[in-house]
Amino acid sequence: LIIEGKNYQFPVIEGSEKEKAIDIAKLRDQTGYITIDAGYKNTGATKSAITFLDGEEGILNYRGYSIEELAEKSSFLEVAYLLIYGELPTEEQYSTFQHEITTHTLVNEDMRKIFEGFPVNAHPMGVLSSLVSAMSAFYPETVDLDSPETTELHIIRLLSKLPTIATWSYKKSQGHPVNYPNNDLDYCSNFLNMMFSLPVEKYKVDPVVSAALNKLLILHADHEQNCSTSTVRLVGSSHANIYSSISSGISALWGPLHGGANQEVIEMLEAIKNDGGDVQKYVDMAKDKSSGFRLFGFGHRVYKNFDPRARIIKKAADDVLSKLGISDPVLEIAQKLEKAALEDEYFVSRKLYPNVDFYSGIIYRALGIPTNMFTVMFAIGRLPGWIAQWKEMRANKEPIGRPRQVYVGAPKRAYVER
Ligand code: MLT
Repeated sequence: LIIEGKNYQFPVIEGSEKEKAIDIAKLRDQTGYITIDAGYKNTGATKSAITFLDGEEGILNYRGYSIEELAEKSSFLEVAYLLIYGELPTEEQYSTFQHEITTHTLVNEDMRKIFEGFPVNAHPMGVLSSLVSAMSAFYPETVDLDSPETTELHIIRLLSKLPTIATWSYKKSQGHPVNYPNNDLDYCSNFLNMMFSLPVEKYKVDPVVSAALNKLLILHADHEQNCSTSTVRLVGSSHANIYSSISSGISALWGPLHGGANQEVIEMLEAIKNDGGDVQKYVDMAKDKSSGFRLFGFGHRVYKNFDPRARIIKKAADDVLSKLGISDPVLEIAQKLEKAALEDEYFVSRKLYPNVDFYSGIIYRALGIPTNMFTVMFAIGRLPGWIAQWKEMRANKEPIGRPRQVYVGAPKRAYVER
C-alpha cells in the first residue's frame, strides 16, 4: 500500500475477524490514517498545512514557526494573519489588516436587541455562540470561496466583532451597561477597555497586562484537529456559512473536557485552598478512581510530554503576578500540585503533565478576568485557527464529512406483534 510516496507493507487482510482487526490496527498506527476513504471523514485522516504538533516531543508550530518564538515576538493579529493567510504579514499588509479590523468592531444595533433578551444570569459562552450564529442572519451574503471578497469580509467581521460581543456577554452577566469599542486602541487594549470601562490610560500604559493577554491569545490560536476545530471543519464541510460553523466551534469548546477545563482548574485549585491546601491529599484522590475526583489541567490526548504552551504560560504567570505585584495563593497551590504530581510514579508513568489549562486561569485572574469568561477568552484566541481551518477545508474542496460508524447494536431480528 502506498500513501504519500511511502510504501507500507502489510499482510493481506484475511483470516479470522480478530486477525483482520489486528492488521487494520497496524495500518492505522503506521500511517496515522483511520481510514483512507476521504468520504468517511475522521479527524485522523485530515490533512492540514496549518499547525504541526508532535505530542511525543512536545513541539507546536504554526505554519512552521515555533510557538515559543511567536509568543515572544509577535502580536496576536500577526499570528492571526499567519494562520489565515499562510505567511507573517509585511508591514503594509499588517497595517491594512489592522485598519480593516478596527473598521468593523461595532456590532449591529439590531443584534443588540437580541442580546437584550438574554437573562442577566446567562453564561457568556451561551451568549457568544448565539450572537455569532445570529451574524449569519445579519450578513446573509453568500459565503463561498468563489467570492473571495465576501469571504474576506466575513472573516474580518468575525475577528473584529468577537471581542465586542464577548465583552457584552460579560457585561450582561454583571448587569452592567455595555461599552463600545475604541478604535484608537490595539486589539488587546480595546478588549480590556470594553471589559473593564477603566480609564483607557491604565491599559495603554500598562504593557504588562496587554502583553500577557497577547501571549495567551497566541498560545490558544490553533491546535490542529481537536474537538472544536474538527467541529468547525465538519459543519463547514456541508457548506454551511462561516458564522454557523464558528458558532458550532464555540459550542464544542464550551465543554469542561475542552475549553471549559481552565474554569474547572481554577475552581479545583480554589477548593483545595479552601480545604487547607493539602495538595498530597488531592494527588492521592486523583489516583484513586473510586474517589470520583478528577485532576483537571493534567494530561492531554496528544502530549506525552510537557505541553509546550504550559511551559510558556507557567513562566508568564510568574512574570505577570510579580510585575503586577499580585500574590495569588492559588498559584502557590498550583505549583505545589504540579511538583507533587510530577514526583509521583503514577503521574510520571502515565505521562500526565500539566497542560495549557493548568496555568492560564491564574493569569486571567491576575488580569481581572472573571472565571465565567475563561472559555470566552479561549474562543477569542482560537478564532483565527478556526477560520484558517474552515478556509483550508473549503479551499481543498473537501467532501462533506461523514464519520464512519461501526454498528454494535442488535442483530437483524423479527418484529414481534405486541
Ligand atoms: C486545544 O488547545 O484545543 C486543547 O489542548 C484540546 C486539544 O487539542 O485536544
